Amino acid sequence: MPTNLMNFVALVLIASAFSTVLAEEPLFPNADFETGTLAGWTVEGEAFKVQPTKGDNPAARNRETSNHQGEYWIGGYENYTGNEGKPGATRGDKFTGTLTSPEFTITKPYITFLIGGGNLPGQQGVKLLCAGKEIELASGVDSETMVKQSFDVSQYLGETVRLVIFDDAKGGWGHINVDAFTATDEAVPDVSKAFAFIDGISTTAYPDTGYDQPLRPQFHFSSRENWLNDPNGMVFDGEEYHLFFQHNPKGTSWGNMTWGHATSLDMVHWTQQSHALLPYRIDRRAGTIFSGTAIVDHNNCLGKQIGDTKTICAFFTFASKPKFYQAMAYSTDCGATWNYWNEGRAVVPNQGFDSGERDPKVFWHQESQKWVLVLWVQHNPGRVRFFTSENLTDWEFASDLMRDWAFECMDLVFLPMDGNPNDMKCVIYDASFDYEIGTFDGRTFHSETEPQKMSRGNFYAAQTFNNAPDKRIVQIGWMRGGPNSAQAYGLPFNQQMSFPCELSLRTTTKGPRLLCWPIKEVESLTTRTHVMENVVLAGNTNALSDIAGLDLVDLTVEFEPGTASQVAFDLPGVWVRYDAKDHVVTHSGINNEGELQEKYWTIDKLPPRDGVVQLRILVDRLSVEVFAFDGEVFGSHYINPKHGPATHSIHAIGGEAKIRRLELRELNSAW
Ligand code: FRU
Repeated sequence: MPTNLMNFVALVLIASAFSTVLAEEPLFPNADFETGTLAGWTVEGEAFKVQPTKGDNPAARNRETSNHQGEYWIGGYENYTGNEGKPGATRGDKFTGTLTSPEFTITKPYITFLIGGGNLPGQQGVKLLCAGKEIELASGVDSETMVKQSFDVSQYLGETVRLVIFDDAKGGWGHINVDAFTATDEAVPDVSKAFAFIDGISTTAYPDTGYDQPLRPQFHFSSRENWLNDPNGMVFDGEEYHLFFQHNPKGTSWGNMTWGHATSLDMVHWTQQSHALLPYRIDRRAGTIFSGTAIVDHNNCLGKQIGDTKTICAFFTFASKPKFYQAMAYSTDCGATWNYWNEGRAVVPNQGFDSGERDPKVFWHQESQKWVLVLWVQHNPGRVRFFTSENLTDWEFASDLMRDWAFECMDLVFLPMDGNPNDMKCVIYDASFDYEIGTFDGRTFHSETEPQKMSRGNFYAAQTFNNAPDKRIVQIGWMRGGPNSAQAYGLPFNQQMSFPCELSLRTTTKGPRLLCWPIKEVESLTTRTHVMENVVLAGNTNALSDIAGLDLVDLTVEFEPGTASQVAFDLPGVWVRYDAKDHVVTHSGINNEGELQEKYWTIDKLPPRDGVVQLRILVDRLSVEVFAFDGEVFGSHYINPKHGPATHSIHAIGGEAKIRRLELRELNSAW
């Protein structure tokens, strides 16, 4: 045999040996795009104009890896072909179109390929055109990472077919990634159906970077780094308080929702722990972890308890397309590690009202000896759905509460009226802290008041600690809004929590009302206390003239406005004014655009009671919280400390006022 021919035979033998080992062969020339062109393919529309793309572009812009094969692949979002553009450049989701393969014959029982991008079956994906039929093969899983999938085409053996990669979707995740179409003898296991965490997010939190940046909140919780929003899973485990929170571990804006985690012995000093619940993928659906609550499984209803350590169950919203559902994870080691119940599948499926039904609240109802789950499921008309369960995993419908004020993050707590343990009432509230007081019989809420509005300002999505050791109901809210403190002040984080407050119920002249008052543990931060009684504020009198170098402040004051038009509190970073004519409190602060507002906050009218106004004012580096009349009204606000008054003083404007009693506590950092 001539050498050339021998070489050729050897090559064929090696190649066929390979193809039996791999049992896969290209479906048709350029089925893997390795020519770096679309040779053989037909492009229609705009979606596939700048293709194939070269290299791992998603990774080049810090997204999940593409997992492409060879050098070239189809990346619908990408804008880099190797010649034009830059690695990592994007074209966006808005383009639509098709990419159609040449005709080929089905010679093996499976078509195997890599697929990623958006999970929008019917709107984008891969189709097979066969004997006049269109057979949809697959769509992505809302991840740039492509996974291998096989499609059983054994019934079409010998038929002439075409593949169509199609993209009709323009919105979020409206793009498709594909690569390496091969003919195979066997199917790959469908890994895209299995449970997997989303690439690029792990439990690893942050080194102790210190909380010593000049504008870092000193007694309000903020994450060491990156974005936070709603408090989640607040629970006392028997020894420690847990504060989980909506967290973006990858940036200082909202996204990649993960449950961050911090623990504390007193709700004031917090230690940030590794992240608790991470975005995952199951049954071809990728999702992030939205808000929810956690409980301690006292009676081991779930049956997972190890030794004496009670199981903690966290109920959360699996935020995945096309419809969110409620899922659960449990921890047998006090929140250090988590197991996803039934691989993160639904414990409460979507109820069919809203694709974004969310934020389950779960609590133990002693009288009925059942667990109760409260879920916001619908907007306009607002609908809150109650479920009950004995084992924490099977949930039965109990009742619907139709309330137009209700939107997101429902919480429900039990409190004694006027401190009377024989007169327990139930309070239900939503993310914006609209609430009603009534009773709850284990299945249904029975209202006894009109809806009330509790908070003003940057206060949202609050919840309360489950399982508190002393029957106190302590609440924390997310201080929503303000400027992005990473951009505005160069801080390593953005957003913070409100200071924990104890809730109580009191009969007022207007009817029963909820009160919200900073927890007494704040006193542990006190460095100096200044008490004053019966100080007349006239002319230039400044009640703070003897106090130098104020920083963090907890001020409680009772005063008679007298003939003054205003009583002024000039504190570090913020002016607070009581207007004696209009009976309102205003203060400087910043709106959501980050602009200074001289009179930012006007709460409900606060006429003096028996001639006296009572206020409590907490000032931290980026915030002011003002409570009036034991917390019947309050507001939590961001301030811009750079705009604060030059000197600190309490004085009267336009007349004489009198301080009945003032207690100013200077506070230390909690870090
Ligand atoms: C409220 C909210 C919740 C949701 C979460 C997502 O602020 O919209 O309804 O679970 O934030 O981060």
